[in-house]
Amino acid sequence: IDGVLLVNKEYALPRSYGDGEDEAAYEALLKLQEGARQAGYSMPLMSGFRSFETQDKLYNKYVEEDGVEKADTYSAWPGHSEHQTGLAFDVGWVDLQFADTGAGQWLAQHSHEYGFIIRYPEGKEGVTGYQYEPWHVRYLGVDLATKVYESGLCLEEYLGVD
Ligand code: DAL
Ligand code: ZN
Repeated sequence: IDGVLLVNKEYALPRSYGDGEDEAAYEALLKLQEGARQAGYSMPLMSGFRSFETQDKLYNKYVEEDGVEKADTYSAWPGHSEHQTGLAFDVGWVDLQFADTGAGQWLAQHSHEYGFIIRYPEGKEGVTGYQYEPWHVRYLGVDLATKVYESGLCLEEYLGVD
């Protein structure tokens, strides 16, 4: 959409798409981690690129554990995960409580300066289709990430596909 790769419950990737982290996104991640470190926070990478097959296994594991309805609120179907783009990372702590930590607040306030947005914001569950994920960032480049951040919209709304 307008030159932005959009992956969500509506837009899928081909099974074979992707073979690792996007180079620019990964470099930006390293800068973000360094920025966090200088602010006194550690921002470990918990999950980066995930292939279709990896997502397939993960999603099915969650369905077994939690049932399909619950799993669909927090795990993408294979082919529908942003992690398959190589442009998305889970950082810090994969838990809702991360939002209330200093690191989580730093990430929310500063990730756009490094080209990232919090992809699944609080209050946008009905648009993104996912629960709030304060740890999941999506690389858009500094210009676009800053515009999306300042708009207060989620990516679907910003791109006008909500
Ligand atoms: N947790 C996100 C939605 C994913 O599985 O890609
Ligand atoms: Zn994620």
